[in-house]
Amino acid sequence: MKIDPWSSAQFQDYARLRDEFGIESFEPYESKLPKPGRIFRRGVVFGHRGFERVFEAIEKNEKFAVMTGFVPSGPMHLGHKMVIDQVNYFTSLGADAYIGVADIEALGARGISLKRAEEIALEYYITNYIALGLDSKKCQIYFQSKRKPVLDLAYTSAHETNWNEMRSIYGFEDSTNMCKIFSPLVQVADILHPQLEKYGGPKPVVVPVGVDQDPHIRLTRNIAFSHRFFNVTVAKDGRPGVFVKTDYLVEELLKEVEKVAREMGFKKLKNIPSYKALYIDDAKGEDLPKLDERLVEVERKYGGYGFILPAATYHRFMTGLTGEKMSSSKPETAIFLTDNPKEARKKVMASKTGGGVSVEEQRRLGGKPEICSVYELYVYHFVDSDEELSEIYSKCKGGKMLCGECKQYAASLVEKFLVEFAQKREEAKKRIDEFVKYD
Ligand code: TRP
Ligand code: SF4
Repeated sequence: MKIDPWSSAQFQDYARLRDEFGIESFEPYESKLPKPGRIFRRGVVFGHRGFERVFEAIEKNEKFAVMTGFVPSGPMHLGHKMVIDQVNYFTSLGADAYIGVADIEALGARGISLKRAEEIALEYYITNYIALGLDSKKCQIYFQSKRKPVLDLAYTSAHETNWNEMRSIYGFEDSTNMCKIFSPLVQVADILHPQLEKYGGPKPVVVPVGVDQDPHIRLTRNIAFSHRFFNVTVAKDGRPGVFVKTDYLVEELLKEVEKVAREMGFKKLKNIPSYKALYIDDAKGEDLPKLDERLVEVERKYGGYGFILPAATYHRFMTGLTGEKMSSSKPETAIFLTDNPKEARKKVMASKTGGGVSVEEQRRLGGKPEICSVYELYVYHFVDSDEELSEIYSKCKGGKMLCGECKQYAASLVEKFLVEFAQKREEAKKRIDEFVKYD
């Protein structure tokens, strides 16, 4: 199995995906996070990579950031809202937020001009995002093509990978245009740039995404590590140590490492420049991450980036209202944030549910909320109270509530949301300048 970030394949078996790609389960954090929002409590966010470092920052009240990006094309639907819900949650916990308009990707992958991408971004996405409650004190929105540090970082990151890796991750062909081929490196730079000096230096960063973006996340983590000067690890012979990856300044760097290791209280040190190694025989595996992070400072002093590996959270995709995949190109499958509220009501009323074939059957056997697109609306977006949700669940299961009544309720929630949202959009339009930062 291979994940193609530009295809429209739908994923079903999330547990299998997790195992196959080495994504960790998010479950341990569901109860540990402070005031977790709906999608964290309900298993919608099902997996992560490297979230432990972000969680540590949350616990210790250290600075961290949340970063995401979007390709400006087509209208935004409820599925897109999930990412912004996460951005808002992490900013409420103290994160700075970075949102990139992926205009280079729009050009490379979809042939949308930079000018057109800017128009779409301003008219729909940015307005919607602001209306969804972004905090202007914490959040900046930028364009890939206009932020020089991102473009520079895309180039230096290109040095840390090669054609073989790129082709095996993305399956590029001889005829693939070079802008598309280069666009993952711009995304790598999107994700890493909050750690540049200019944006406050190294820090944990979390990227909320759907699993389709996992290839980009893996590439980014590989490249972040490849930029590092040091490999802090247990060597094949079982000895913990720090191994210098650069070909220059090896002796100086090892001396600096030795100093840090002594400060941290290690005593059994063997500095062997010809192996480019400092062995630390009294270190244990669990000491290494701390040491690694101390060495970020050394690395920066010598002109390195000192990136901390970015983390990602993975969310499930909503099913379409018709039971097929939710898609911007099929209006009947999705509720768009700019839908006319009355039209949206009709879509909900026409949607596919988990109800029985007849009223009689549904009263007798109950409905199946786990496969119902209406129930999904409640879970992901419209019923915040867990008690109310479980009440709906048991009424459905017990055949006490029929789909007609249930859809009426969902439709009224959707309609109310959209009426209010239209209002918020009008206010958001006046505030765009508070958020968009070109450099
Ligand atoms: N590739 C992403 C998409 O197709 C958009 C994107 C660009 C992005 N840069 C990003 C997502 C950085 C997360 C982080 O939706
Ligand atoms: Fe879905 Fe509601 Fe019908 Fe249950 S009663 S199957 S939740 S629409």
